[in-house]
Amino acid sequence: MVDKSIQLRIIQLTSDLHAHNYRYYVENNPQVSDFEFDMLLKELQELEQKFPELALENSPTKRVGGDITKKFEVFKHKYPMLSLSNTYSAEEICEWEERIQKSIGRQINYVCELKYDGVAIGLRYENGNLIRAVTRGDGEKGEDVTANVRTIKSVPLALNGNYPLDFEIRGEIFLPKSKFEELNKERELQGEILFANPRNTAAGTLKLQDSRIVAERNLSSFLYGVYGVSGLFDGHFESVQHAGQWGFQVPKTMNNYIALVDNIEDVLKFISYWDQHRYSLPFDIDGVVIKVNEFAIQEELGFTAKFPRWAIAYKFKAQQVETIVESIDFQVGRTGAITPVANLIPVFLGGTTIKRASLHNADQIKKLGLRIGDTVRVEKGGEIIPKIIGVVTEKRNASAPLFSFIKKCPQCQTVLVRNEGEAQHYCPNEKTCPPQVKGKIEHFISRRAMNIDGVGVETIDALLKNGLIASVADLYSLQRADLMALDRMAEKSVENILQAIEDSKAVPFERVLFALGIRHVGETVAKKLVKYFSSIDELAVATFDELIAVDEVGEKIAYSILQFFETEEHIKLIASLKSANLHFFSTHKQNISNILAGKIIVISGTFQSFSRDELKELIEINGGKNGSTVTKKTDFIIAGENMGPSKLKQAKELNIQLLSENDFIKFISQT
Ligand code: IVH
Repeated sequence: MVDKSIQLRIIQLTSDLHAHNYRYYVENNPQVSDFEFDMLLKELQELEQKFPELALENSPTKRVGGDITKKFEVFKHKYPMLSLSNTYSAEEICEWEERIQKSIGRQINYVCELKYDGVAIGLRYENGNLIRAVTRGDGEKGEDVTANVRTIKSVPLALNGNYPLDFEIRGEIFLPKSKFEELNKERELQGEILFANPRNTAAGTLKLQDSRIVAERNLSSFLYGVYGVSGLFDGHFESVQHAGQWGFQVPKTMNNYIALVDNIEDVLKFISYWDQHRYSLPFDIDGVVIKVNEFAIQEELGFTAKFPRWAIAYKFKAQQVETIVESIDFQVGRTGAITPVANLIPVFLGGTTIKRASLHNADQIKKLGLRIGDTVRVEKGGEIIPKIIGVVTEKRNASAPLFSFIKKCPQCQTVLVRNEGEAQHYCPNEKTCPPQVKGKIEHFISRRAMNIDGVGVETIDALLKNGLIASVADLYSLQRADLMALDRMAEKSVENILQAIEDSKAVPFERVLFALGIRHVGETVAKKLVKYFSSIDELAVATFDELIAVDEVGEKIAYSILQFFETEEHIKLIASLKSANLHFFSTHKQNISNILAGKIIVISGTFQSFSRDELKELIEINGGKNGSTVTKKTDFIIAGENMGPSKLKQAKELNIQLLSENDFIKFISQT
């Protein structure tokens, strides 16, 4: 028998930690220090480890993550998750209000809310415990992302006060701007690709399989709709404010995140206030949502096929400003790609000062007809890098010459090339063009590639400067003494670097392939290639047709791979990496049959018993190939529910057989 006092202590700690979490993450008003909090958490963790049977279902220790979701289960929403009709015009908001007023004919109150720019989520609570979190999906069915949502500190795992016993609450999961910036800074240091904006990052994070990483990302939430509580409240405003008392982060009138108003003028004031002040918020919004407050009136108004008639979203236009292009720089990437970047007279836009804007490529400059000194309109959308939308030609100095794209690499003076059908110019001197040499090494050692930890940008600079390396292959012949001779290099760091280089020899083929930095071959494509070609030697002799048969490999990628293996330098590089014992073959499962040999099979729709990846694997280990598009070469299609309409149309036109997942399994099981 376990001591009753232990059980009581676990209950006490659980409840105290929930309360501290709420004060810290929702009220922004912590009452204990971080240290005290950590001590309480540690005590609970230790007790739960010793007495796992006593741990409460929604223990705050689960916030640190750890659960792995291999496949997100599809879950049907109890109430469909609709979206909102939206407009960019204040006039249309007034018309919407007039329509409602006319059809109802009595006093109407409106709730004005922020339109959070994140990912919609539905949270189900039973007996005060979070039991399920489901994404919006197609509105009818979403994905069960509970393990990940549990790690979000402002989502209560257990509720306080007088909450309904069984209800759903909906809201938005988002990444605060400051957390987004921290995350990207960290990624930059690690040499990883930067996230484009907080919304995409939040969406991607919610779908990560490892909830521990989700926990580190610091997602947050705002809740905006209580469902399944009929009769408890008269209106939306009241229901949301009550949800605040149960422990949810809900908008407060105090900071004007929400307002209950009784006339259209106040609605318009709310809109205009946030149009001007949105950039001072700690999170992104893309508009304002206006909802009829009273539930009875909401019910009277009802829904169209897609939207509620009782709510509308006013979306903000992306802000634009004018500024002047002072000069154009050309950046050289690790693959030699040249990116023109405009240097602008600094202007304040969307909460930040903008000094530069990407011009993408020569075609873009031509399209804009850009000249140095031109006044341009710059827009900041959801992305970090602002866009040049157009030139204000009326303000142009007529004598300014048209800007012409550079002919030579700004770093090594080699004549640039542009492949047919591609928009980008390239510097072909990958062997000695400094940013390419350095960029390739940085990419090679980055975490997702060879993961050679401890070698920072400065070390690479020093190694290059001292002639100790000229390409990635030289990393594997570095000696202790070479590294010790570098400035500010301690013995311990040298040990770590040599160990990391040694460890990298165990990195699997798909990551080695990615690390080689073949133009257009990112992580995903490298993985796909390794499934089709079990060694670098097989890949090196692959034909164009064989390459484009690979899922996700199009013409551009296929040409780039062919070109890579035509270059003698690359063949030499691979030979020396091979002699350093890097993995250049896959340790793939042996085929279990060849029943699908020579067959190209397309998968479409959603399935009951298998995920798409599992079906792909079944195709491959039975000797077949998985094609992404339906063509006349497709042998058959494994068709699930809601098969894509264009695939279905093509299948009919080309008379291609559709097999259900069960038929497919029967087919591959025959011997
Ligand atoms: S109410 C039936 N309120 O906008 C109405 N939605 O286009 C349900 N959103 O998918 C939505 N802030 O992800 C509502 N204060 C807010 C919102 C909000 C953001 C998102 C939500 C929804 C989309 C609607």
